[in-house]
Amino acid sequence: MTDTTAAIARRLADLAAFARTAREDGTGRATIRPLFAADPGRFARMSNRVGPLLLDRSKTSLDDAAMAALLGMAAATDVAGQARAMAAGEAVNSTEGRAVLHIALRAPRDAGFRVGAEDASAEVADTLDAMRAFCAAVHDGTLRGATGKRFTNVLNIGIGGSDLGPFMAVRALWTEASPMRPYFIANVDGHAWLAATNRLDPETTLVLVASKTFTTAETMQNANKAREWIAGAVGEAGVGAHFAALSTNLSATAAFGIVPARVFGFRDWVGGRFSLWSAIGLSIALTCGWDAFTGMLDGARALDEHALSAPDAENLPLLLALVEVWHVNALGYPARAVLPYDARLGRLPAHLQQVEMESLGKRVGRDGVLVPYATGPVVFGEPGTNAQHSFMQLLHQGTTPVPADIILVAAPEHGDAASHRMLLANGLAQAEALLVGRDLDQVRAEMVAAGLDAAEVARLAPHRVFPGDRPSVAILLDRLNPYTLGMMIALYEYKVFYLGALWGVNAFDQYGVELGKVLASQLLPEVTTGAKAGGHDGSTAGLIAEIRGAWSG
Ligand code: F6P
Repeated sequence: MTDTTAAIARRLADLAAFARTAREDGTGRATIRPLFAADPGRFARMSNRVGPLLLDRSKTSLDDAAMAALLGMAAATDVAGQARAMAAGEAVNSTEGRAVLHIALRAPRDAGFRVGAEDASAEVADTLDAMRAFCAAVHDGTLRGATGKRFTNVLNIGIGGSDLGPFMAVRALWTEASPMRPYFIANVDGHAWLAATNRLDPETTLVLVASKTFTTAETMQNANKAREWIAGAVGEAGVGAHFAALSTNLSATAAFGIVPARVFGFRDWVGGRFSLWSAIGLSIALTCGWDAFTGMLDGARALDEHALSAPDAENLPLLLALVEVWHVNALGYPARAVLPYDARLGRLPAHLQQVEMESLGKRVGRDGVLVPYATGPVVFGEPGTNAQHSFMQLLHQGTTPVPADIILVAAPEHGDAASHRMLLANGLAQAEALLVGRDLDQVRAEMVAAGLDAAEVARLAPHRVFPGDRPSVAILLDRLNPYTLGMMIALYEYKVFYLGALWGVNAFDQYGVELGKVLASQLLPEVTTGAKAGGHDGSTAGLIAEIRGAWSG
């Protein structure tokens, strides 16, 4: 049983009221610096490790009383019980009546995950066996293109979860020594198509059509283009040799002309944004190698074991979720930045945008009631140090604090220690600057010491103040490899699960993507012919006329 929206609203209102009370030392509950001043052991008490992954939440304003309130909320919500229900294959995706079992994708054959009568673990293991055999055959040249050339390139055609997760992982794990070169096309955009295919030889390209539903308009448009492109090079009879499909919709893959042996399936209990562990991850396995893919599964499984067994107060993803509740509901912060200090994690913010915002961008509770509290924040990000030269200004001096996830990798896989030390110093510096700030007295003193006259000091000093007490959490990986990447992605997946439970929303549907799809299909004929079929708003009608005018002009 999950709580009613009204019960959750009362809990969150109590938390917000608590956050408005002063601490014993008179500081507000948004301040962080006094907590460090009062407790030299704060970092050790507020950081937790699972193997090679450390989570530090000491640079938040959480004190013992706030943690107790949040953990009380987690217990009252029975988040552990809800996690057990998910793992037991119950239909926790309540609106769609589906189980949520992406965790079964990284468990062994004998793990015993079930959905009703279905042995989900056996199903997963069979698919993994088929994927492994396919990868081996492509890599050793048993499977080749229609003209006899070995496949050297993989072109993944998919969008949303059928692109973002695999693309993020490949960006993190692929090196020049990897077995095949990766290419991804998501957008239905001729420019994106040309940018990818101009560099590709169709004779050496294996096309993966990645789509859970196999009906997504953008993907099917690009898949059809790919079929023509391949046919143009190797002839119609050779097309099948260049395609594989990753999907739950076996009748649609057959209708597209992909033979069953080249279809790698998964089930509807795998949500798109959680599907990189499934057959959707075939692009990872092909391009980065089988061991890289299974290394990710192993890392995610380690996090599964932790998340499903650790007590609430030591459960890393739950702690991360509680920090978010504190920031969103107690302190009213509407956004969060994801700042990986590692170029290999350049697509992590994009992946998390889908995982978090498609899951938690909800305004109706599980009971159908409009929620009177804030749910998922805006998530955005960019690898450091790029972010520092872009939007970090707002995080340091904007009007509303924006909490940040600072992701650090202790040891690089390259030999340029100087660059890596500089990168880490920058990540640490951003978090420290957000925390400690620089007050007016300090600014004035520095300006006077630099020889500025009194008028200049008075004019500029207010602009140079950093308020400080701005929160961040740090995620520190010993190294970035398949295992730690798998752990970190799973960490965020569980965080989303726990937030769905704490906010009482279904984190596993995405009805919010539907209206745009319907309207796009209605608008297409009007954009194409100019025929006025729909009663559009004035702006849309005006823009269609302008576009068509530009074409004819
Ligand atoms: O439009 C949103 C969405 O349904 C995502 O949830 C999903 O990851 C994406 O589209 C792609 O869907 P599919 O894999 O079915 O093509």
